[in-house]
Amino acid sequence: MTEAILLVGGRGTRLRPLTVHTPKPMVPAAGVPFLTHQLARARAAGVDHIVLATSYLAEVFEPYFGDGSALGLHLEYVTEEEPLGTGGAIRNVASRLHSGPDEPVLIFNGDILTGLDIRALVHTHETTAADVSLHLTKVTDPRAYGLVPTDETGRVTAFLEKPQTPEEIVTDQINAGAYVFRRSVIDTIPAGRPVSVERETFPGLLSAGAHLQGMVDSTYWLDLGTPAAFVRGSADLVLGRAPSPAVPGRCGDRLVLPTASVASDAKLTGGTVVGEGAFVGEGARIFGSTLLSGAVVEPGAVITDSLLGARSRVGERSILTGAVIGDGAVIGADNELRDGVRVWCDARIPAGAVRFSSDQ
Ligand code: GTP
Repeated sequence: MTEAILLVGGRGTRLRPLTVHTPKPMVPAAGVPFLTHQLARARAAGVDHIVLATSYLAEVFEPYFGDGSALGLHLEYVTEEEPLGTGGAIRNVASRLHSGPDEPVLIFNGDILTGLDIRALVHTHETTAADVSLHLTKVTDPRAYGLVPTDETGRVTAFLEKPQTPEEIVTDQINAGAYVFRRSVIDTIPAGRPVSVERETFPGLLSAGAHLQGMVDSTYWLDLGTPAAFVRGSADLVLGRAPSPAVPGRCGDRLVLPTASVASDAKLTGGTVVGEGAFVGEGARIFGSTLLSGAVVEPGAVITDSLLGARSRVGERSILTGAVIGDGAVIGADNELRDGVRVWCDARIPAGAVRFSSDQ
């Protein structure tokens, strides 16, 4: 059995307003807090002990997941007094690990949805006798990421910050946010101050001559850091494109939680999720969207690729495409909201107040 650290303490600023009241890993995807999918996948890969490194809104994790026994896990929680960054968070939980100095410890970012073969990453780590092994994924446009080139044996040769010019794009491999550390390497991270594992620990280890191994796994991979990505990931879980043992129901075009209410002629497609106690009125059409608990969609509304926060309300005939509606916000009838608009928690938009087209 391997143990793992899950980094769940970030502020999730890119996902606001959904992260105003809820830390990013606790925002529901496919009907359960996103973290549930990661915990269930780790369990399925043979992990039994997981330490959650918490900071932002730390108090909500333990009441929900408890000691982890419902998931077959032993969970522990460690909260930073001040956020310590990704590397500092790893170092801060070291005292809770049971592994010996040479044993492998898995580390996961708390916002990645992936079909990564976790056992294969541990196997690669052990067969190459690496100090740290990293899951790498290939992306078509690497400009927004830190690049991780490797040699022909998979050994990491550099960590390159976001490339600016075409010549700097030397590889399409990026850090995918899952690592295996030799336990003793964790103990070398400085304690008690913020450390970025990506910007400080990895480049530092490399220049000190450590063996960092990359494993390219080109399975499903998505960073759920933005609203558009989050709603895509939730829909992909429902559609079965992204694998998780924790989806509460059969995979298909839609997931309607048992306490939700959906009018018989409403149309739900593209991996739409209707959360607990949510309501969808007559003739509404919802594609690839997520309604969190208690959200209300009134008759005739058309909602595409959008996220509706808990207890939010969308009025009759309103059209939403690529929109995020914060918890408790109310969109009146006959509005048209598009393309990355973020309506803040508890905001009120009157009927007919916002349009993108001029036709009415
Ligand atoms: P943004 O603010 O939108 O960039 O999101 P974020 O705060 O989650 O940052 P980022 O996506 O870069 O973080 C990667 C992972 O590390 C996420 O799972 C975060 O929860 C986690 N993380 C980031 N900073 C900290 C920290 O200071 N402490 C802990 N415990 N986890 C962190």
